[in-house]
Amino acid sequence: MSICAKIRPAGPKAYQEALDILRAGGLVALPTETVYGLSGDASNDDAVRRIYAVKGRPAYNPLIAHVLSPDGAQRFAHIPPLGQALITRYWPGPLTLVMPRKDSAPISAHAGAGLDTIALRCPQTPWARSFIEAGFDGALVMPSANRSGRISPTTAEHVADDLGDTVDMIIDAGPCPIGVESTVVQINGDSGVMLRPGGISFAELSAFDARITRPQRAQAITAPGMLKSHYAPRARVRLNVKTPEPGEPHLGFGACFTAPGLNLSKGGDVNEAARNLFDFMRRLDTKYSLAVAPIPTDGIGAAINDRLKRAAAERDT
Ligand code: TXA
Ligand code: MG
Repeated sequence: MSICAKIRPAGPKAYQEALDILRAGGLVALPTETVYGLSGDASNDDAVRRIYAVKGRPAYNPLIAHVLSPDGAQRFAHIPPLGQALITRYWPGPLTLVMPRKDSAPISAHAGAGLDTIALRCPQTPWARSFIEAGFDGALVMPSANRSGRISPTTAEHVADDLGDTVDMIIDAGPCPIGVESTVVQINGDSGVMLRPGGISFAELSAFDARITRPQRAQAITAPGMLKSHYAPRARVRLNVKTPEPGEPHLGFGACFTAPGLNLSKGGDVNEAARNLFDFMRRLDTKYSLAVAPIPTDGIGAAINDRLKRAAAERDT
């Protein structure tokens, strides 16, 4: 475990310190229900620019603005009826909506990658909510608190390992309860396209409203962050492996597990597997190769398989 002077246990003292940092345009990593985010004042150009620099994130990949409520979202986006219905059903929670941005939206131009849309999310955990509540023109931008292209962090230590002293504070409130990022849906008029599978499954969203579909191949690039080799660990990742090579670490699931390695969920529960996924991938990312057992695709299992596929994809170097 790394020791980072900037990790503070969640509590009133850390809250006040973090608030002062954010108000001065600084950066604070904090937990949401999905993963740890790197937060900054969405309306502050310097804070937004620094997020890109600290993450090493390309300028073409836009940030999510995190708001407190459906009313808060109205200031940033034109919300079509389908967007409104999803908001009413799923906010606060792990659903990010991409919608047409209002010209008057109080957000730095640097956060939007030159697009005329904006991604909005309304987080659930008190830590994220209490800061947005304190002002910041209604929103904090908050990408996952990892170096660009690496696995998202689900603990304060993961953040410290990736970003260390380049951020002003890391608030430690334990592991994130969901463990994979939010589902991203782009609303186009009266239909919706899921750009990123995540905390809410596609099956659930399409049962809620059949106008929500998966992206066609040509549309995949609409989510600039969904590059093929995103979520890359250092080790070569081999998928659907029931019998690993001798000595090769195994990321197991249910009864399919061979030591050495770790079992994502002994009882075969995909939600438990999602909570453990990024932590276990980081822990096992020590050798040349990592063998992963087959993981079911039901519920959040689809998001797990998406992240694993990206982790196994060819690297851009
Ligand atoms: O669960 C989450 O969403 C976490 C927590 C911290 O809230 N945040 C997160 O942010 O995962 P980030 O920046 O790591 O991923 C946001 C994704 C990226 O793939 C980005 O390309 C996409 O959302 N995105 C943001 N704005 C967009 C836009 N206007 N159009 C299309 N995709 C957009
Ligand atoms: Mg990310």
